[in-house]
Amino acid sequence: RPGARAWVPADGDLAALAVAAEGCRGCELYAPATQVVFGAGDPGARCLMVGEQPGDREDVEGEPFVGPAGRLLDSAMAEAGLARDSVWLTNAVKHFRFTERGKRRLHRSPDAGHVTACRPWLAAELERVRPELIVALGAVAGRALAGPSFRVTKERGVLLPWPDRAARGLVAGDVPAAQLLATVHPSAVLRSDDRETAYAALVADLRVAADALS
Ligand code: URA
Ligand code: SF4
Repeated sequence: RPGARAWVPADGDLAALAVAAEGCRGCELYAPATQVVFGAGDPGARCLMVGEQPGDREDVEGEPFVGPAGRLLDSAMAEAGLARDSVWLTNAVKHFRFTERGKRRLHRSPDAGHVTACRPWLAAELERVRPELIVALGAVAGRALAGPSFRVTKERGVLLPWPDRAARGLVAGDVPAAQLLATVHPSAVLRSDDRETAYAALVADLRVAADALS
């Protein structure tokens, strides 16, 4: 796995990055996927949100968070007072990882090597957007942004300084200081035994983000 670095242009705006990402061969995940799913939203956003990786719907449509998890995220954001079109929404890994089971494609979480390979794209997005606030949705995003020992369950719902020492080595280049807020992934809410409670906790965390931006 060579990693994405060689495919990331040094200059160019987010639209140029999105085009360049179509050609990325930084890890093996590009091959079985339909297409790359780059970040989307407001290039001037004050808030950048990071998920895990595109799912089945996202892989087909080429847009982040357009499937079931995306619908849940939309409603949680709306309830928290965060407009989806006012943020830059992206993923730690830009290609869908799956296993085929008959006609179905089952999501497989990316491993740490995929996250590391893909991180130059995330770093480039952070450099271009220069957000004040970064929201990590779930453990994969939390570790992509804050290192392998980061625990979303322990750190969720509070504003943390970013990059801290653990994060500084992860994103090279000129990334300005921001605050980091971690919460659970919307898919974890969908899988939860107590969906209502898990959803309310996600909304409460996102309210902390909305308040930080108000
Ligand atoms: N889950 C994610 O983490 N990202 C998406 O874009 C869709 C589902
Ligand atoms: Fe490149 Fe990331 Fe896709 Fe791997 S997952 S090919 S590093 S864009």
